[in-house]
Amino acid sequence: MPDLSHIELPLLLDGIRLRYGFDFRDYARASFYRRVMARVEAEGVANISALQALLLHDEAAMERFLVRLTVHVTSMFRDPGFYRAFREKIVPTLATYPFVRIWHAGCSTGEEVYSMAILVEEEGLAAHSMLYATDLSEGVLALAKRGVFPIAAMKDYTRNYMESGGKRAFSAYYNADHENVVLKPSLRDKITFSPHNLVTDASPNEFNVILCRNVLIYFNPTLQERVLRLFYASLGPHGVLCLGQKESLRHTPLESAFEVFDADQRIYRRIE
Ligand SMILES: C[S@@+](CC[C@H](N)C(=O)[O-])C[C@H]1O[C@@H](n2cnc3c(N)ncnc32)[C@H](O)[C@@H]1O
Repeated sequence: MPDLSHIELPLLLDGIRLRYGFDFRDYARASFYRRVMARVEAEGVANISALQALLLHDEAAMERFLVRLTVHVTSMFRDPGFYRAFREKIVPTLATYPFVRIWHAGCSTGEEVYSMAILVEEEGLAAHSMLYATDLSEGVLALAKRGVFPIAAMKDYTRNYMESGGKRAFSAYYNADHENVVLKPSLRDKITFSPHNLVTDASPNEFNVILCRNVLIYFNPTLQERVLRLFYASLGPHGVLCLGQKESLRHTPLESAFEVFDADQRIYRRIE
């Protein structure tokens, strides 16, 4: 029997878009296909067409699909050198602004934005800053809002925090029980969590800083360009854009609209 996935996959994408409004057509195809096939297996259906029928008729199955389709891997103070560069090179400018708006686009379960909440507190920006954290998946946003993380992760997070230039004992930011830590509510209070789809939604506000780290790698060049244009339009004068270690503005149509602020840490500044 011929492999029909080259027909079934576009039909699945159209079906999901028409039924639920999520547009995955411009996600990088090879990794997307692998993840769809993993859902075929996990749901115990015969093929992509059968998965499509399930998703169209069963909203709970669609929820499972959404949570598992995209990669949510994250950690606190991930790439500590980035946070160190942010403290040393970006904070001095932000400190001169009357108010600072920071957008974490693709925040996953919240580790990145909580790291930033700690950083802005230590750098004296907390009273005049607002952190806005968005993701496509309501499932990860619900976890992010709780601010509860496994205690087993704290050893790595503490090391990252120290390497990032952290100024206190990391344990000052959480209460621990046997299995989990609960971050201090004062950190959570600084953050607004909200659903936002980078493919289809408009800019939520004007920002001084946008972090979109380890999200664009899952998009094809067409979608990357669209999202980079959204970020450009969402940044105020000299606004800062922070990408992931494997992402860059090089060879994109937006390259000349930004100056490179720190090439190693993928920090860019909008040219005004
Ligand atoms: C690998 S995580 C990155 C988390 C964090 N930024 C970091 O670097 O640790 C990628 C996140 O992007 C989100 N995402 C994927 N497509 C998206 C879209 N179209 N709009 C908003 N978020 C999206 C996923 O749900 C996932 O939580």
